[in-house]
Amino acid sequence: MASMRIINTGKVVKTSAAVSILNTLMREGVAVKHVCGGKAQCGTCRFRIIEGERYLSPITERERARLEALGNMEKVRLACQTFAFGDITIEILLTD
Ligand code: FES
Repeated sequence: MASMRIINTGKVVKTSAAVSILNTLMREGVAVKHVCGGKAQCGTCRFRIIEGERYLSPITERERARLEALGNMEKVRLACQTFAFGDITIEILLTD
């Protein structure tokens, strides 16, 4: 188990490498847009990694393509495609 701090809310929640960041946020009742339902198609679930980037799952080609289509996405990932295996701090970019 690891922890995820969400700077938008100040909340710290438990997360694990078996559950996507999007599903963790939804489970914890944290507002986050997810228009395509987790298919890496909309990009609305994107977040900025503030701390702990090394604890995130590797970016996939599908995720990279979506982020590149959105523009300058340095330190930005899709919550529906990303898993954390260590302590991280994030900023949700589009709250619900
Ligand atoms: S929910 Fe659409 S890209 Fe993540």
